[in-house]
Amino acid sequence: MFHVKHAQWFSESSGPDNSAEVIGTLQARIGALREASLLRATDGDERARAESRARALGVPFLDAASNDYLGLAERPIAEAFTSGLPGGAGASRLVHGTHPAHRDLERDLAAWLQAPDALLFASGYAANVGTVAALGVPGDTIVSDRLNHASIIDGCRLGEARVEVVDHLDLGAMGQALARPCPGQRWLVVEGLYSMDGHRPDLRKLRALTNEHGAALVVDESHSLGARGPEGRGECAAQGVAPDVLIAGLGKAFGMQGGVVAGDGALRTWLWNRARTFVYSTAPSPALAAATRARLAAVRDAEALRAQLETRSARLRARLSQHAQVHVVTGSEGPIVPILVGASLDALRIANAFLEQGVLVQAIRPPTVSDGTARIRLTVRATFTTHDIDRLAEVAVRACKS
Ligand SMILES: Cc1ncc(COP(=O)(O)O)c(C=O)c1O
Repeated sequence: MFHVKHAQWFSESSGPDNSAEVIGTLQARIGALREASLLRATDGDERARAESRARALGVPFLDAASNDYLGLAERPIAEAFTSGLPGGAGASRLVHGTHPAHRDLERDLAAWLQAPDALLFASGYAANVGTVAALGVPGDTIVSDRLNHASIIDGCRLGEARVEVVDHLDLGAMGQALARPCPGQRWLVVEGLYSMDGHRPDLRKLRALTNEHGAALVVDESHSLGARGPEGRGECAAQGVAPDVLIAGLGKAFGMQGGVVAGDGALRTWLWNRARTFVYSTAPSPALAAATRARLAAVRDAEALRAQLETRSARLRARLSQHAQVHVVTGSEGPIVPILVGASLDALRIANAFLEQGVLVQAIRPPTVSDGTARIRLTVRATFTTHDIDRLAEVAVRACKS
């Protein structure tokens, strides 16, 4: 750890020193965020506070903010890093080639997902931005759910297709948008489990809708891959639906890092050539790819954890539903249990009340969610005991009353 002093940092630079002005601009912008209760704490301050409060209260620290649904992220991956595999890929795969560990992982992911092929990205964010942008060429139409993740929105912005944003899971609006004349390909992009609302779309209906309009179905399974469906193959598999494009981050139930896009070999070839976040980005570490391949076996075999995740999530919902002051987002299902608050300041206050009880949660505020819909996102993990769940519910009820 080292810290560079302001003066030292700028003394190396050439040209006029307008650093004070630049820093002043940033500080003013940060001030505006703070004023609007939208400033995020940096460097894990909240986690440290919750942990220290838990110690002071003599209760276990409870982490209800992680997407580590199966508790696999905490498992060490030391073997991969002592296996002799390179830690770094050296360059993008187009420039420096594919390490066998990349291809092995892609093949195993594709086989598991029962998809023809797969392509590995550095993150789920990179997978979404690169894929959505590369798919949407001029003449195409992308129909995107209003609550889609920022990475999908950014992919829509970066691409050259006409984009129609439709109300959240509004099948009527989706159908109308897909029915409009379009000289190219139509794409419907949704998530398998909505990360801030816990909604699971009816993918069978969406598949039927896309089939009716000759459109492709693109599903971001970041929050469902590993956590849902037979062998953890995700929400599409749970509903018996084959999407045209399946995208997922590997940092959630997998507890690793990276992103995957699964589909036909033609999709892989197109993305290999045109997904800018793939083409112009260093390939993931081969050692990490090998570790992720080993993790896949753990994910596939985690039926008991997946069952536990569902029962624990249901228990939390049942506990919270007994209290009128706790407004769990309507229609939410599974491990994402969002409590609607409204104002950002109130969400911060409530999150703080959780931290005071040794429970880490996040106040989710704009721009992650729309204005006036700030919320507390409780994330259930399979490793929570029933006692943890009951404590989480109790703390939530008290915090919401505070
Ligand atoms: C729905 C969704 N898609 C994609 C991503 C990005 O995945 P990653 O964290 O692997 O970059 C996230 C992460 O927050 C997400 O919630």
